Amino acid sequence: MPSPLDRRKFFGSAAALSLSAASYARVPGSTDRVRVGFLGCGGRAQAHIDLVNRLAANGTPVQPVAVCDVWDGLEDEYDVTFGGKTTRRRYAQGLHPSARKCGLDPADKARVTKDYRAVLDRKDVDAVCVATPDHWHGRMTVDALNAGKDVYVEKPMTRTPEEAVAVLDAWRRTGRVVTVGVQSMADAVWVRAFDFIRQGGIGHVAHAQGGVFRNDARGQWRFYRLAKEMTPKTVDWDLFLGHRFELAGQRLGPAPAELPFDRAAFAQWRALWAFGGGPFADLLTHPVAHLSAAMGVKFPARVTAGGGVYLEYDGRDVPDVGTVVADYEEGCQVVLTGATVTGYPVEEVIRGRLGAVKFVKGGFQVFRDDPTRGATFPPRLEAPPTPSEVIAVEPPRNETEALWENFLDCVRGRRQSTFCPPDLGAAAVAVAAMAARSYRTGRALFWDRDRREVSAADSSWAERWEGRSRGRGKPNQVFGWSAGDAGSTLSPPPHQRLAGPWVGGADPAA
Ligand SMILES: NC(=O)c1ccc[n+]([C@@H]2O[C@H](COP(=O)([O-])OP(=O)(O)OC[C@H]3O[C@@H](n4cnc5c(N)ncnc54)[C@H](O)[C@@H]3O)[C@@H](O)[C@H]2O)c1
Repeated sequence: MPSPLDRRKFFGSAAALSLSAASYARVPGSTDRVRVGFLGCGGRAQAHIDLVNRLAANGTPVQPVAVCDVWDGLEDEYDVTFGGKTTRRRYAQGLHPSARKCGLDPADKARVTKDYRAVLDRKDVDAVCVATPDHWHGRMTVDALNAGKDVYVEKPMTRTPEEAVAVLDAWRRTGRVVTVGVQSMADAVWVRAFDFIRQGGIGHVAHAQGGVFRNDARGQWRFYRLAKEMTPKTVDWDLFLGHRFELAGQRLGPAPAELPFDRAAFAQWRALWAFGGGPFADLLTHPVAHLSAAMGVKFPARVTAGGGVYLEYDGRDVPDVGTVVADYEEGCQVVLTGATVTGYPVEEVIRGRLGAVKFVKGGFQVFRDDPTRGATFPPRLEAPPTPSEVIAVEPPRNETEALWENFLDCVRGRRQSTFCPPDLGAAAVAVAAMAARSYRTGRALFWDRDRREVSAADSSWAERWEGRSRGRGKPNQVFGWSAGDAGSTLSPPPHQRLAGPWVGGADPAA
C-alpha cells in the first residue's frame, strides 16, 4: 500500500500538506473516538453503518452518534422475484431502522433527525458520511466543512463541476479531511500503474478506455424497492428535493409544484436528471477516477458525449447508452461507455506509444509495443494477447472498509491526503458531469483551468494541436514524467527530407 506521502506527491495539492492551527485545535486527539453522523441512510449507507459498527466492535476508535434521513424508513422482509426464482430479502433503510442499527433511540430527536443541519450543529459530531442522492452531496459537504466536520462523501463528489469547485475551495479553506467514496481508490494498483507510466513504462500516454455495462430486464435502477410506507407523510419531500437550497448559484432540485411526491422519483432517483447524472455519473465515476489517477491526469480540457435512451422506455430521463470522450492538455484521451441495456464488458486499458497496461484482478498486465518495427498487435483481438509482464498488486480485502480505515487514519492524523481526496473527486465530476451536460445540450465543452469553469468548445482545440504539429512542437507529458523523450519522439523516414513547400519554385530538399 503506498504511503500517504506518495499519494500526496501524486495528487500534488499544496493544501494537502498542511492543516491550520485553528482546524487542528478542533479535532479529536489521535486516541479519541471519531464520532460519526450519517446523512442519508438508504441502501449504500447501510454498508457504511455496518462497517463503522464492525470497526468499532473490533477496537477502532469510531462511533456512530447521529443519523439523518428524510424518510422515517422501513424494516421488514420481502420477496424479490427475478430470474425465475423468489428470494426472501431483509430490508432496513431510512431514519428509524438506521438509528436502531447505530444503537440510537429513534425517539431521540437531537440525534435522529430529518434535517441534516441539526447533525452539523452538534459539537459531539466529528465527521459525517454523506450518502444521499447526488444532488445533495456538494451542499452537505460544504456545510459540513464549514461546520468543522470531516467528510466521507459518496461518489460522485458533486453533481456539477461548479459544485465541485465549491467543495474544493471549502476543503482548502477549512483544512478538513475529505474522502470521496470511490472505493476502487483503496486499491494500490492505480498508484503503482501511475509510477510505472511516469517512468516511461508505456512511453507517451495516448489513450485509455473503460466502461460499465449492465443488463437487467426490469430496467436499470428499477429494482430499487418502492414501498407503500413511502408517503408524503413519512418523507419530507421538500428536504428531499432541496429546492430551497442552492450551491454555486444553482438550486439543488425542483420545487414540489414541478415534481409532486412520487415513490419512483424518491427511491429510483437515478433515472432522473434532477437528482443524478445517469450512467455518466452513476456508473462512470469509478473508472474515470481510477483511470485518471493511473494516467496522471486531473481535469479534462475538452469533453463531449453521445448516447440516448435506446431501449429502456420506462419514464426515465437518462440515457441507457452513453459514451464520453474526454481530452486532456497532457495530450491524451479517455473514452468510457456506460450502458444499461447490454452486458458484454470492455477491457480497462491505458495505451501508450511503447505499450499498454491492462488492469486485471490483482494487478496489471503490460503489453510492449515497438513503433520502430511495424505492427505488434493484430488489427482485431481474436484471443487475448500474451502479456510481456504482469505486475501483481494485492487488492484490499474489502475496498470500502479500506477506504474507511484510511479516512479514519487521516482524521486522527489530520492528513488531507486520503485515498480519494476532493481534487481527484472533482476531476471525476468534471468528466462525468460535463459528459451529461454535453449529451443534453449537444455541445462539446471546455474546462477552463484558470477560470475554473465550463464553456462551449470551439475550433481552438483542434487549431492548437494543429499549430503544435506545424511548429514541430514537443509533446506534453503527464505530471511527474521522468522518462525523458522515451516513446514521444518521432523517427521520420529519410524521404521526409523531400517534404515542404516549393517556395519560389526551389526544391526544399536541395
Ligand atoms: N460507492 C459505491 O459503490 C456506491 C454504491 C451505491 C450508491 N452509492 C452512492 O451513494 C449515494 C446513495 O445511494 P443509495 O443507493 O444509498 O440511494 P438510496 O436512495 O437508497 O438512499 C438515499 C437516502 O438519502 C435520503 N435522503 C434524500 N435526501 C436527503 C436529505 N436532504 N437529507 C437526508 N437524507 C436524504 C433518502 O431518503 C434515502 O434514504 C448515491 O450518491 C450513490 O451514487 C455509491
